[in-house]
Amino acid sequence: MSQLLDILGSKYPIIQGPIGHLNDPKMVAAVCEAGGFGMLALGFVQDLEKVRQLAGEVKELTDKPFGANLMIAMNPNNEAILEFLAEAGVKTVTTSAGSPKRIYPKIKELDMKALHVTLAAPLALKATEAEADGVVVSGTESGGLRTTGPESTNLILIPLVCDMVDVPVVAAGGIADRRGYQAALALGAQGVQIGTAFLASEESPASQAWKEAIIACGDAGTTLLPMGGMAMRTIINPKMDKLMASGADLTKEYNMGDAGKAWSAGDFDLFPAGGGQISALIKEIKPVKDIIEGMVS
Ligand SMILES: Cc1cc2nc3c(=O)[nH]c(=O)nc-3n(C[C@H](O)[C@H](O)[C@H](O)COP(=O)(O)O)c2cc1C
Repeated sequence: MSQLLDILGSKYPIIQGPIGHLNDPKMVAAVCEAGGFGMLALGFVQDLEKVRQLAGEVKELTDKPFGANLMIAMNPNNEAILEFLAEAGVKTVTTSAGSPKRIYPKIKELDMKALHVTLAAPLALKATEAEADGVVVSGTESGGLRTTGPESTNLILIPLVCDMVDVPVVAAGGIADRRGYQAALALGAQGVQIGTAFLASEESPASQAWKEAIIACGDAGTTLLPMGGMAMRTIINPKMDKLMASGADLTKEYNMGDAGKAWSAGDFDLFPAGGGQISALIKEIKPVKDIIEGMVS
């Protein structure tokens, strides 16, 4: 058994990537039942009762291990959430969006394991110094929040980090099928984290319009939309295409606060659909079991 599988406790080293506010215990359980590591996205959940309820619902649907993602800088209640999760029997979490130094002492005190998500090699090293048990390394092709500075693709970043750290490395970004999964392992990763492909799955709580936007996205169909000091990878639509061609300042055209409403209503003029570059390879809405089995077959 690999070190990563030992940490996760799942059959396959395939982690469900957290997607903003999207949480559905049925989806988490479906990933676990298919052999992956399902995860609750608790980055923006501050209500402790909600955490208890979500974890309880997952436990009713599966007896397999599952985890949760905590966004370090976004949530003041992370320490209390960790205590709830430990009580619920969650053994492994992932952390992102902030300095691991702030949260790893509590994780260790609770005797939990954790993988820290990093977008750049030096930060992966810092995460291990803060005692992360592994790192999820997310190249520029990934969906989700990115930096506005220069970034590497996973083809560069994964081997770079594997050469720097002695903890398991998980590749996040650009993976939806067997080829991507095998490529990540060949680069030295022990596993993968899947965002966009699960977002477009049958069980995903995302709106049908959002799933269809991912399916319709082709080669070079995404771009990094700057948002304050960060950027969000989004699927280019006709309105956005026109704005980009006119040289408009996109930070003035879109407000990150509208993303949740736009994505659930399918109103991508309000805010473009989030999705990774891998959207170009996702051609149908499939059950998570088929996606996972396709990867490991
Ligand atoms: C729309 C969207 C929202 C995301 N939100 C989060 C988040 O809230 N926290 C986080 O750690 N990662 C987030 N991610 C990143 C994913 O968990 C995952 O690491 C990434 O999508 C992997 O790349 P892929 O989309 O190519 O599979 C998000 C990704 C997408 C597409």
